[in-house]
Amino acid sequence: MARIAILPGDGIGLEVTREAVRVLEAATRVWGLDLELVHWDLGADRFLETGVTVTDEEFDALANDHDAILLGALGDPRVPGNEHARDILLGLRFRLDLYVNWRPAELLLPQLGALRDVEGRAIRLDVFRENTEGVYVNLGGRFKAGTPDEIAIQEDVNSWKGVERIIRAAFEFARDRGRGRVTMVDKANAMPAAGALWRRAFEAVGSEFGEIRRDTMYVDAMAMDLVRRPEEYEVLVTGNLFGDILSDLAAEITGGLGMAPSANLHPGRHALYEPVHGSAPDIAGKGIANPMGAIACAGLVLDQVGCREGAEAVDAAIRTALEREVTTPDLGGVATTEEVGAWIAATLDDSQPTESTDG
Ligand code: NAD
Ligand code: IPM
Ligand code: MN
Repeated sequence: MARIAILPGDGIGLEVTREAVRVLEAATRVWGLDLELVHWDLGADRFLETGVTVTDEEFDALANDHDAILLGALGDPRVPGNEHARDILLGLRFRLDLYVNWRPAELLLPQLGALRDVEGRAIRLDVFRENTEGVYVNLGGRFKAGTPDEIAIQEDVNSWKGVERIIRAAFEFARDRGRGRVTMVDKANAMPAAGALWRRAFEAVGSEFGEIRRDTMYVDAMAMDLVRRPEEYEVLVTGNLFGDILSDLAAEITGGLGMAPSANLHPGRHALYEPVHGSAPDIAGKGIANPMGAIACAGLVLDQVGCREGAEAVDAAIRTALEREVTTPDLGGVATTEEVGAWIAATLDDSQPTESTDG
């Protein structure tokens, strides 16, 4: 039996997670899985009602009593300071030490991406974002806040341990998936202290993987080159902030934010899956959010619980939905969030399992 915590969160997080759950339920039927989905109400509504973001007991339960977490998105215009999202989302990343943020982006059909002339160019990027350090640790503070003399310090933290392990995760992924190149993205020309540590770790770890080509790029040049020739790159490894930014860019050139899944991992210990996008207040409540990124996360959950065939069926159903234009307006379609989710779930229901997995 596997227990999955379902945290829809806010805005379109609620809408897309409903469809991801629909797909998990279909897979449970088809492959006879023993999955327990536990629904959690963490998010802006609860915070605004009770003042509580997430308790220590809830963290413990999420960490110890569940095999994985599936999250929608956190963020709400009624909480302009974003306190609850930082507590819950960054809280889970930090407290569960989810140091790998793997954000794959693949152009499944040439017409989906934001770039022109991509026919025949295979774009598949795997961003490995460091997920527990960098400028996200919130060390620093404000001095003379609210005055003309205000000073704000937001420290950038890079530990050898933190950097080494994300670089190692990127190389291990490249080796296991047969990818030929790992590119480290930094800003060593302007930030030489962090740059030196990252480059030393990249050489040390990379030299253990002699068959994999390695190179480094400055983040500004990488942003440019991802638009110019994204097909050149394979695995990117980078810090927390640059990874956040580059993963939105990678998503946009491969079909948009609505398509992109991600995994926050402490390998062997904890896993939290979430689409790369946020709560999208501009379209929340309209029923038009693209659920494919969230549904792809459901596929990653299936893979984790040992239902490889279900995971592959989810990916195949997403691909078929795209080919048949069962898509939301962001991809040019006319389907609603629910119609896309129901179509993909029905496609799974129609599939003939060859494997029965006891998840
Ligand atoms: P966003 O990702 O929510 O939206 C950016 C743009 O992409 C919007 O125009 C939105 O309509 C569109 N978009 C996003 N997901 C889509 C989908 N599934 N289908 C169709 N269109 C989609 O980013 P934002 O507007 O900068 O942030 C909104 C809120 O979400 C903020 O509070 C932010 O902090 C939060 N956020 C949370 C997460 C997370 O929980 N992992 C990630 C990013 C942003
Ligand atoms: C993401 C989001 C978060 C981040 C925000 C909501 C703090 O943008 O998951 O990509 O910056 O990590
Ligand atoms: Mn982001």
